[in-house]
Amino acid sequence: MVTHTADQVEELRRAALEHLWVYLREPSEMAEKGEPQIFVEGKGCRVTDASGNSYIDAMSGLWLKNIGYGRTEVADAAYQQMLKLTYMPLGSTTEPAVRLSEKIAQITPGDLSRSFFTSGGSESVETAMKISRAYFKRIGEPLRSKFISRKGSYHGATFGALALGGAPAFPKTDYEPLLAGCFHGPQPNAYRCEYGGETPEECAELCAKAIEDIIKFQGPQTVAAVVAEPVSSPYGAIVPADNYWPMLREICDRYGCLLIADEVITGFGRTGKMFACEHWNITPDLMTVAKGITSGYIPMGGTIVRKAIADTFVGGPSAAFRHVITFGGHPVAAAASLRNIQIMEDEDLVGNSARMGAYLLDGLKELKEKHPMIGDVRGLGLFCGLEIVKDRKTKEYFPEDAQLGPRLTQAFGENGILLRGGDMMNIMPPLCVTAGEIDETISAMDKVFEQTGRDPRRPLPLAENRGGAENRPRLKFVVLAYFSRRPRVGMDPDPRGLVQSVAL
Ligand SMILES: Cc1ncc(COP(=O)(O)O)c(C=O)c1O
Repeated sequence: MVTHTADQVEELRRAALEHLWVYLREPSEMAEKGEPQIFVEGKGCRVTDASGNSYIDAMSGLWLKNIGYGRTEVADAAYQQMLKLTYMPLGSTTEPAVRLSEKIAQITPGDLSRSFFTSGGSESVETAMKISRAYFKRIGEPLRSKFISRKGSYHGATFGALALGGAPAFPKTDYEPLLAGCFHGPQPNAYRCEYGGETPEECAELCAKAIEDIIKFQGPQTVAAVVAEPVSSPYGAIVPADNYWPMLREICDRYGCLLIADEVITGFGRTGKMFACEHWNITPDLMTVAKGITSGYIPMGGTIVRKAIADTFVGGPSAAFRHVITFGGHPVAAAASLRNIQIMEDEDLVGNSARMGAYLLDGLKELKEKHPMIGDVRGLGLFCGLEIVKDRKTKEYFPEDAQLGPRLTQAFGENGILLRGGDMMNIMPPLCVTAGEIDETISAMDKVFEQTGRDPRRPLPLAENRGGAENRPRLKFVVLAYFSRRPRVGMDPDPRGLVQSVAL
């Protein structure tokens, strides 16, 4: 359904190009391509842009639209809470925040039992880092300040969280120096095992041992925590073999450091369990969540802490955790979270994630059989990924001038699927996805890989086939004239176009 005229769409684009800082995009390039695309509606797994183009959202927004779009129950819960109370003074709380903390204690593994609410993933990770350091100060091990995470991971945009990350799409060079004392181990990617493991289990073991080696080298008495996503997104759904997380747990226990599971994407059903740690029966010391906690209906996040650790912050005013996030645990967001979780439970969306995830993975494996450019397919629940290679034997990626990422993204869009193309890709539709919608997604991908596979180096006719293009030449002229007056400073070159091609 067309909701805006072509003129209205162009007017919106013009305003966006002049005033809005669109994440990860550079305005003159967007102007050239007739972007940004502006979305106006969503229902279930489908979204519609202002020009009336409709898509299956195979990325769940940014891996968060777990219950799907357009659930009025969540809107109603937020609305009702807005009518009642929209904020609480510092040092007190609200009923939805209490109920949500209680609910989370029930559904998270083991004795994870106290939640510090934030407004998103980065703040949750930052909070987990601060809790870890403050915890060791309280228990008389003040030297434990270091963090060990993995190359190829993403933990957020703030200074601490960015220091933990190692995703090439988010180079740190613009912002350095970052937080000192952060060290990076390997990603347990069996397809390209950095340590030469020949089976997924061997790769997992070698990669877990590499974390142990870093702990030993740094001095165990100086390490606060190991931080990892149970399934990692930037390199395209890196699912470790089953021995990896139990090994990480055991290593952390052996050296007395904390284990932080960053479940910002994996939490709330994404992998076919409510929390991914359940796949391996482990309880992390701290767990960070965001995204799926409200299915992206409203910003929300949290750091969930095991009882023994949280209890060190009990015992008189000096024990308190001195850390405030103004909007953390906002009552409206808490009410929306509770309703979101209830929908997941009532409709068994976690079970659907496991079932439809297996179905999606089968479909992707069939695509791999047909298309030599698909080098690897992997996934857990509805957290699936693949790697695109020029040569299956050498696992070499396509050269940068093939512009594979943008070309695939555009072709997916032209075939009705929102999916970011690149060397590594994540495929994560909402957890309410049906077999029919997965079939549609797979058949669109099939068509795109068929076309692209025929001529992987064909230059890209970007932005030609989108709706609402009538005024584009005029807009392009105005905007390019505007941007050409500005010096282009400060951006790192992105030699492999990784902003386009890494999955995150
Ligand atoms: C695993 C992980 N942790 C943390 C974050 C940061 O979350 P946010 O963007 O909500 O700050 C992300 C974001 O994608 C993530 O994937």
